[in-house]
Amino acid sequence: MNTFYITTPIYYANSLPHLGHLYTMIVADTVARHKRQQGIETFFLTGTDEHGINIERAAERAGRTPQQQADYVVSYYKKMTAAFGLDAAHGGYDIFMRTTEPFHYQGVTEFWRRVAKAKTPRGNDAIYKGHYEGWFCAACAAYKTEDEYVKPDDSAAPPRCLIHETPLDRISEESYFFRLSDYDEALLKLYESRSDFVQPDVRNNEVKSFVSGGLQDLSISRLKSSVSWGIPVPDDPAHTMYVWFDALINYITAIGFGNLEREQAVGFEKFWPGLHLVGKDILRFHAVYWPSFLMAAGVEQPRHVVAHGMWVDSTGRKMSKTLGNTIELDVLERFFSTDAIRYFCLREMVFGQDGRFSYEGLIDRANSDLASGLGNLSSRTLTMIGRYCQGVVPSGKISEEKLLLAKRTGVDTDETTIAGFIEHARDQFLQHFDNFAFSRALEVAWSVVARIDKMISDAKPWDLAKDENQRQTLNAVLYRSAEALRWLCVLLYPVMPQTTQDIYAQLGLSESLRTTNPAQLKWGGLNENTKIGEVKPLFPRMDKAKTLEEIRKGAEPSGVHATEAAAVAESEVSKMTTPAPPMQEATEADAAAPVAGVTTFIEIGDFAKVDLRVGEVLSAERLPKSDKLLLMKIDIGEQAPRQVLAGIAEYYEPEKLVGRKVVVVANLKSRKLRGHESQGMVVAASIGEQGRPVIATFTEDVPNGARLK
Ligand code: MSP
Repeated sequence: MNTFYITTPIYYANSLPHLGHLYTMIVADTVARHKRQQGIETFFLTGTDEHGINIERAAERAGRTPQQQADYVVSYYKKMTAAFGLDAAHGGYDIFMRTTEPFHYQGVTEFWRRVAKAKTPRGNDAIYKGHYEGWFCAACAAYKTEDEYVKPDDSAAPPRCLIHETPLDRISEESYFFRLSDYDEALLKLYESRSDFVQPDVRNNEVKSFVSGGLQDLSISRLKSSVSWGIPVPDDPAHTMYVWFDALINYITAIGFGNLEREQAVGFEKFWPGLHLVGKDILRFHAVYWPSFLMAAGVEQPRHVVAHGMWVDSTGRKMSKTLGNTIELDVLERFFSTDAIRYFCLREMVFGQDGRFSYEGLIDRANSDLASGLGNLSSRTLTMIGRYCQGVVPSGKISEEKLLLAKRTGVDTDETTIAGFIEHARDQFLQHFDNFAFSRALEVAWSVVARIDKMISDAKPWDLAKDENQRQTLNAVLYRSAEALRWLCVLLYPVMPQTTQDIYAQLGLSESLRTTNPAQLKWGGLNENTKIGEVKPLFPRMDKAKTLEEIRKGAEPSGVHATEAAAVAESEVSKMTTPAPPMQEATEADAAAPVAGVTTFIEIGDFAKVDLRVGEVLSAERLPKSDKLLLMKIDIGEQAPRQVLAGIAEYYEPEKLVGRKVVVVANLKSRKLRGHESQGMVVAASIGEQGRPVIATFTEDVPNGARLK
């Protein structure tokens, strides 16, 4: 059966996603759409990896249970994937996989049992019990060898992870081991017999040389007493499975391995083997560990493991939360269209290599390639069809007697030249696409844009329109340009699903691009007399300086609408722009919780720690150079009024606040925001998706300084 299965990594549920995570989803989504266009039944998986010490610790820092932590992160993922058109409702992923799903537990247990019974290629037990002694990076969820950490000058301090620069955990405990050392030859044979198993070549070579150097056995369990948040080892509940062991298996449990219901709903037999798309940071897990586990369990190998490069910052360091150098999704969402982001990611990153992300680069590409390039071609073509052809696609044919006239204007009278050019471009485009060379594919597509643009500029339809004798020449130019646009829409649909469908509608075409196969495009397929739709702007030009300034300003602390950053704890999650408490979006767990929206309960003593006081706003003014912050003086019954900064300037006129009674968190440690001290926080409700703040107040008269209990 003609099926295709593609996966992204499942992302750690310890922190919120950034551009790096979005990138892999965009690539997978693009490939899935490309396959669907060819009529191939496609299943696309993304999701979250929810177990392990990393999630346990993040939950602890945020005052949540691990499950609440996972639910919180998942709710953000779902919101963002919807905003970026990657979810099922927008024709994106088919499953958002979560490793806390009961069917996953069931499948993983079955998998472990199979491996526990298996013999290695050298005839030994694949799993054995031993003692692990060594260093572990919680952020990588990986054991580290000496060449993977740095020893600090202070010999008493633990070594630090080379990637995350965070201290490692010392582990010395009983553990189950997977006998990876017995799999080197079998793996090398696999890479040898399937030269495209790991892609691109440079990564294939890396993997081969790593395995050729010999492999060490892998600890695949932790004592429950040290890591409790994990799947129990079957028949030995004192151990939980190593998070990578559990996580990798998601690729098959999601489609039905070890669970009949999923098998019936999706189909392991139908979709496996799949293609794993991963960042090069986790290639070893996918190209070495996972194939060995699969061999032991007697499950077929994946179709391919394809690794892309990393988005790095200006100093070349991988973008990551731990390093604090991320491009945040809510900023991207606010300032850029999804299709511009998709286009930029695929055009700018040479697939497989690292890429530097800058807002400046994104704006430049949006303006040059999209607004001035494709957008302009589309609008000039359609506007001219509107103006010169009464909004109807003209015929592209030039009759015998008009050929000479047409030739005189320099227009190629032989339509097969342009048809041949575009067919060749299509073939090249598809070939690059199949090789994950998106950047080159897009270069090819833009060579079509340039060629058609040049045809129009050379032919000058606005002059041709003045001469009734050149009517056929004018029509031919406009037909070719509209037909080329149609081809571009079909080719570019997987990259820019929304805009291409919009251009298509403006061309007067209503079929879904989702199922239009580019390989079957035929020149001349656009029917003359097609009535074009309403011409609407596609890619508005961005004011670079203004946008960059707004992004910079937007990076100033925003949050709980009071004195925001001051109120946000220094945990991983709360470092993000969307604050942890209060939760901005309902999660599945919320629905089950006894009080709607609340997932974390505290003791009365915890509440008593928060000193809430009635205050009166004595003065309020905007903070210079800030759109968001208001500086207020508030009387809370103390000798001197408090100075409090609040992120409400977009919603409240300062003058109207004067004299108003508010609720102040009086015992919040003071913090400096934009050079001004903030001595507390004003409490506000957060309304709607944008989180509009509505200040809490009283309907009865209350004295300043009264405590809320
Ligand atoms: N949970 C594991 C994966 C388990 S898969 C069975 C994990 N999670 S992660 O949250 O750290 O995600 C890593 C992946 O996110 C990378 O492999 C890549 O796909 C994506 N990226 C994260 N940061 C990235 C960049 N800076 N650049 C490009 N992609 C990045 O590892």
